Amino acid sequence: MKQDIRLYFSAIHKLFRETIPGSDDTVKKQVKLLIEELKAGGYEKEAKMLNNILVTDSAKNELTPIKILKSNLGFCGEELTKAVSVPVNKETGAQILEVTFVNDLPDASPVFSEAIVKAISSILTEWSNADKLINKGLDPVRSCLIYGAPGTGKTQLALWMAKQLGLPVVTARLDGLMSSYLGTTSKNIGNLFDFANRYKCLLLLDEFDAIAKFRADNQEIGEIKRVVNTLLQNMDTRKQNGFTIGITNHPKLLDPAVWRRFDIQIEIPNPSREVLQQIVQSKLGTVKLKPSQVKFLSWLIDGGTGADADVLTRWVKKAKIVIGNVFDSEFYTLVQEFIFLNAGRVNHANANIVMQDNRKVLTKELSQSQYKFTGTEISEILSVDKSTISRIKAPKNKNS
Ligand SMILES: Nc1ncnc2c1ncn2[C@@H]1O[C@H](COP(=O)(O)OP(=O)(O)O)[C@@H](O)[C@H]1O
Ligand SMILES: [Mg+2]
Repeated sequence: MKQDIRLYFSAIHKLFRETIPGSDDTVKKQVKLLIEELKAGGYEKEAKMLNNILVTDSAKNELTPIKILKSNLGFCGEELTKAVSVPVNKETGAQILEVTFVNDLPDASPVFSEAIVKAISSILTEWSNADKLINKGLDPVRSCLIYGAPGTGKTQLALWMAKQLGLPVVTARLDGLMSSYLGTTSKNIGNLFDFANRYKCLLLLDEFDAIAKFRADNQEIGEIKRVVNTLLQNMDTRKQNGFTIGITNHPKLLDPAVWRRFDIQIEIPNPSREVLQQIVQSKLGTVKLKPSQVKFLSWLIDGGTGADADVLTRWVKKAKIVIGNVFDSEFYTLVQEFIFLNAGRVNHANANIVMQDNRKVLTKELSQSQYKFTGTEISEILSVDKSTISRIKAPKNKNS
């Protein structure tokens, strides 16, 4: 006799929940096939539940580390060590740059959509084959501009890329670089590039739009021209000497000529719902939360960035360590506390729903949201019986 798969689904679901995270692509491929079969068989809800497990597993959207041989890259230059002294702004004494050594660069890549991961991976592959390209008279990509909204992982990406190259990072400090004295800013920019060209390093021009802003603020037209020209000239000579990454939150403020100096431009969009869930999952690291709780946290910061996920997951991780066993039963209250303390970090509308503290309203909103929370998930989030949620969803008529 043919049995309904629903009889066994709870066990199947549990099994996948335990085994999918961290599994390799062949396993995931099989699960995807099963999901398709379930859909074809009319088991929409079950297909969705399995799909959720795949979505929250972040492995596929993190960049794969590769070790790139420095000797392949074709740049000379001295080794940058802690003994090297850093140039300063003569007028103020402030450092015009900061050095981050390879050991201090992040091991974890940010989590992006598959398309971005693929594009960035292709640059890394190019770098690891740089010697072959150079032998054939072709130049590997040597400079890229990364742009996008604040908190989307641009700086982390640049630092992670440097780690793959095994190069220390020389970051321009714009506060140290800029000067109100005539000619000093240009001189500082020259010193910055001279330093970066002398040593084996990756030059990072972070929050680079400040130079463009300087153009708008400064009244002295001749001085503005001088600064931009110095920058352009230095970027041209930099090409033969090493890698450069520019980062900006305001690409429109950049001078088109500066923009054109970069071999490639990567736009980092705000994370999609799917990617945001993966970011939350990856930030939790070894701290295990139920998939329903991960999904709820993502819903809470819906429309937000990785930086929001960072703050939220730090707080959840601390709570889990501090309160231990009662974490699940306290989860919802913890989330409410977080909202109180981080009003600017959460999705305003969703936070308002949570703060109403009304199970009926919450159940309705969660199940009708884009995230389509199931009754089981809502019961886990609120730490109440599944039957309670079922009753809220479909109240029995008193007279029947
Ligand atoms: N896509 C992402 N994946 C993982 N973490 C992210 C992501 N975007 C932002 N973050 C986290 O948010 C914080 C800010 O990121 P950062 O790279 O400084 O952003 P940006 O330079 O774009 O303003 C960091 O702690 C970073 O780990
Ligand atoms: Mg940044």
